[in-house]
Amino acid sequence: MRILVTGAGGQLGRELVRMAPAGAELVARDRQALDVGDRTAVLEGLRALRPAVVVNAAAYTAVDKAESDPEAASRGNADGPGFLAEGCREVGARLVHVSTDFVFDGATSRPYRPDDPPAPLGVYGATKLEGERRVLREIPNRSLIVRTAWVYSSHGRNFVLTMIRLMRERGTVRVVSDQVGTPTSARELAIALWDLMAANATGVHHWTDAGVASWYDLAEAVRRLGQTRGLVPSNARVVPISTSEYPTPAHRPACSVLDKSSTWSILGRTSRHWLDTLDEVLAECAHA
Ligand SMILES: NC(=O)c1ccc[n+]([C@@H]2O[C@H](COP(=O)([O-])OP(=O)(O)OC[C@H]3O[C@@H](n4cnc5c(N)ncnc54)[C@H](OP(=O)(O)O)[C@@H]3O)[C@@H](O)[C@H]2O)c1
Repeated sequence: MRILVTGAGGQLGRELVRMAPAGAELVARDRQALDVGDRTAVLEGLRALRPAVVVNAAAYTAVDKAESDPEAASRGNADGPGFLAEGCREVGARLVHVSTDFVFDGATSRPYRPDDPPAPLGVYGATKLEGERRVLREIPNRSLIVRTAWVYSSHGRNFVLTMIRLMRERGTVRVVSDQVGTPTSARELAIALWDLMAANATGVHHWTDAGVASWYDLAEAVRRLGQTRGLVPSNARVVPISTSEYPTPAHRPACSVLDKSSTWSILGRTSRHWLDTLDEVLAECAHA
């Protein structure tokens, strides 16, 4: 079965390629090879390849930059999935698309369920929500949308690698402690997506690692576990601050914990705890 992975150069894309099941005829396309915001390239590419499944790991993920460049965010996050869905409808392929906790406003007292009303706070979340809607409009019965959160891996641009770099450069880092969510290993997400595909799952579902953390908790875990792995200096310190002390162009949800129960029920298993998966990724960083 031929499976096309778009955005194959990103954190998730790389892990999807790495964790692909034996026997899958994988075609991996990074941004240079296939720009999902280019409708002609997408439609012609799908007609030529005729994949059975397209997994879209491409996205415009610069949350703060999106506020001043909504056209670019919309091109990657709304047009791209829309064009892929259109092409999938034409060639009869299924589409697996990845979305975000940022479709919610974070004013919740319990984990968000897939059918909770979205209310994005910024351009990134709004464009990702529009991408979801375009996919569901084109191919409601042959699409799977998986929302995730706080994704990191041993490669690429992410909070964990930034913390390691800042602890090395500055020793002390100040990190917000009043935004909570769940750190998610890109590899665990990739494995879950392959398993959901094998189960022929459709609809909108959530996936993150298990547990709840603030950005401060995550930074503190990077410090503690990173020190035991020799990644972080012994004098590193993490200081908790409030969101108001660290203003950013984009507003972020205060609480974006996702309810994963529908995914867990399809897979017949739960997520692993974020501390365990973080330690695995740090081990990988230490051996790189
Ligand atoms: N990272 C997170 O914390 C997070 C949280 C929630 C949800 N998600 C979602 O998870 C998915 C995977 O994210 P990720 O963490 O793997 O992000 P990532 O590392 O930024 O990867 C995204 C990839 O998409 C590529 N890309 C951007 N625009 C493209 C286009 N028009 N055509 C083709 N490729 C394009 C990027 O290329 P360039 O690098 O060249 O731009 C990059 O390689 C995305 O749907 C994202 O919205 C991520």
